[in-house]
This record gives sequence, C-alpha cells and structure tokens, in this order.
Amino acid sequence: MSAYRRGELGPVVCVVGARPNFMKMAPILRALAARQPTLPTLLVHTGQHYDRDMNDRLFEDLRLPLPDINLEVGSGSHAVQTAEVMRRFEPVVDERQPSCVLVVGDVNSTLACTLVAVKKGIPVVHVEAGLRSYDRSMPEEVNRVLTDQVADRLYTTERSAADNLAREGIAADRVHFVGNVMIDSLLDNRPLARAPAATLGAAGADPELIAGPAGYGLITLHRPSNVDKVAVLAAILGALRDISATLPLVFALHPRTRKSIEGFALWPLLDTRRIVVLPPQGYLEMLGLMANARLVLTDSGGVQEETTALGVPCLTLRENTERPITVEQGTNTLVGNDGAAIRREVAAILAGRSKSGCLPERWDGRAAERIVDDLASWLPGRLAVA
Ligand code: UD1
Repeated sequence: MSAYRRGELGPVVCVVGARPNFMKMAPILRALAARQPTLPTLLVHTGQHYDRDMNDRLFEDLRLPLPDINLEVGSGSHAVQTAEVMRRFEPVVDERQPSCVLVVGDVNSTLACTLVAVKKGIPVVHVEAGLRSYDRSMPEEVNRVLTDQVADRLYTTERSAADNLAREGIAADRVHFVGNVMIDSLLDNRPLARAPAATLGAAGADPELIAGPAGYGLITLHRPSNVDKVAVLAAILGALRDISATLPLVFALHPRTRKSIEGFALWPLLDTRRIVVLPPQGYLEMLGLMANARLVLTDSGGVQEETTALGVPCLTLRENTERPITVEQGTNTLVGNDGAAIRREVAAILAGRSKSGCLPERWDGRAAERIVDDLASWLPGRLAVA
C-alpha cells in the first residue's frame, strides 16, 4: 500500500445517483478512509433519486456520509436526466480537479459522469464492470457498455465479466477481479437486519400474516419491461394474486410501479389481505425481509445477488440476467414475466424443489479493500503517464 501526502493528489470523486449505488459505495468509502486516510475523497450525489424512501433512509442505514455536493437533477426522460447530470457535473470536475472519478453500477448517473470525466482526460474507475445481459433494450445495458468502453480501470464482480470485456476489445490489463461490493454491505449489515414482523408492524400492516408456517414471499418489481405495459403488469399481478392464496406476499412497491398500477387502474388485483403492499423499504428492512423469505420474486439486479448470498430462492422476472453466476452457482432462476411460468416455478419451490446454491468466489466482504489497495498502487502510475 502506498501512502499519499495530503494535498498531493486531487480528490477521488465518488459518484452516486440512484438507490442501487448506495450499498455499493458505502464499503468503498469506508475502505478508502481506513486504508488510504490521506487520499482525499469527495462524495457527489447527482440527485437522480431524492425521496426519503428511495434515498435518505438508505444513507442512514448504510452509515453513508452526507454528500459533499448534491447536483439535484431529479427525474426526467433518459436524455434529460443524463444531460442534466453532465451539465451539472462538469463544473465540479473543473473546480475540484479530481485525481479520478469513481462510478459504480449502471444507472444513468454512472454513464453521465463517466462521459464528463473522460472528455476532460480524468481517469475513470468503474466498479461492477463487465456485466452484460446482451439486451440493448435495457437502459442499464447501454450504460454498462459505454461506461466500460471508456473507463480506465474496471473492477469486476464475477469472472464472466472479463470474458465479456475481452469480447468488446477491452485490454485485460485494465480489468481486475475484486468480488462484489454489494455483498460487502450485506455481510457488514446482516447482524443489524430488521425483523420482518417489526417492519410490517411499523408500516401499519398485520405481522400475523407472515407468522404462519408457510412463511411469505417477497416481491420487488420496477423494470420498465415489466411495469410500463398494462398487459404485462396485469399478468404479473394476476399471478401474484393466485400465488398469495397459498403463500402470503409482501410487496415493496417502487414509485415507478406504483404510478403504473394507479395509471392502469390495477389496484383491484392487489386488493387481498394476503398481499401486504409496503412503500420502498430501508436497507435494513429489506435485508430482514429477504433473509427470512421463503422465496423472492424480483426483476432487480442487486436482489438476484443478495438472495444468492443469503441462500434464499430467487425467481427473476426477466428473460436474461447480466449476473449469470447467480443462476449457475447461486439460488437464482430466470422465469420471465409469463403468469403461468411464474405460478409453476413458485409451486416447485413450495414443493421443496429449490436451489441451495453456494457463495460465489470473492463474495467475501473484502471487495472494497481489494479495490482500494489496487487503486492506491494504480492511480499514481496512471497520473504520471496522463
Ligand atoms: C433507476 C435506474 C435502475 C435502477 C433503479 C432502482 C437508470 C436508467 N435506471 O430506475 O437501473 O435499478 O433506479 O430504483 O438509471 N421516483 C420517485 N422518487 C425518487 C426517484 C424516482 O418518485 O426518489 C419516480 C419518478 O417519478 C421517476 C420514476 O420513479 O419518474 C423512475 O425513476 P428513475 O430514476 O427515472 O428510474 P428508476 O425506474 O428508479
């Protein structure tokens, strides 16, 4: 590990924008502070997510420091949101002269800040590089491909990512397999997870519903491909209603999904006391709900990984995944969004046919340490040649 004299380097500008970024950045900031205390950091929040439910609660749960700068871009079309992040991030880069810009994941803020930095010759570090669904209709896939093309240092979570990057012509010496920072957060916070009964009670729901021997299923849903079309969403909700007759369900509702359910007048499908609808949950509540669930139905990327780490069966309502290790080694099964397929796979798990899975390589709670150690040796050399 090399040490820096204070003032020697510009800050490592760490960017977060949306909910799935927060649990990835928290362990990185902690590892930077612990292992490279003289290396300055600056936490920039783009403001892509801004609600108390989608933002503030997660910051508190993850013990994230308040952002040094909040760009407050808010919601908008992809073009508007991406452009607005770029417009507001550029003066920050001009003023602070970062030694590098560190981005995580695949949201619009990830790509927007990458583009600003790379065009100014500032090194870009991408955490969670190389994941590919090979489905360009996903906005995240476009963000991933473009960010990786121009990033200088790429940290990967699973070995398949290096193969994807090699196929896209990215030199192997830019790529470093470190493991999964999202699992760093999970292992760190596992002892603090909130009990599901307490979470339901706090939300005004009846904890008795999930106290029975059947347990409960947990639902998260927010992908445009599942929630933006009435026929697709109605088929999924219809399947959930049927499943709830045998397995009580807890549904943590994303704002995009809530808007669709309201706009398409689909509330009647959820109008049963066997389905508890909750607002977006804090990190510790979600961790408790996932860890204790009989099964999880989701279209989230992070939840596929978290359920694998927790050993809880996961049915992913997508045709593909950019996280194949969760299917090959973990507890994840792809079911798509066909109602009959969802019912069938849930029935199979309830009949005892579920994957037990194992913990993937380097999902050991030390990914952020590996990133910081590598960064500390790589960055001075990169700046010397710039
Ligand atoms: C974004 C990310 C997605 C990630 C997801 C997690 C992109 C392209 N998508 O999708 O990868 O999995 O976050 O949530 O970056 N809204 C609120 N409060 C908020 C934020 C959003 O009510 O704090 C509402 C807004 O009305 C907005 C809608 O939710 O229009 C969608 O938010 P947006 O950030 O555009 O996309 P997500 O679907 O959240």
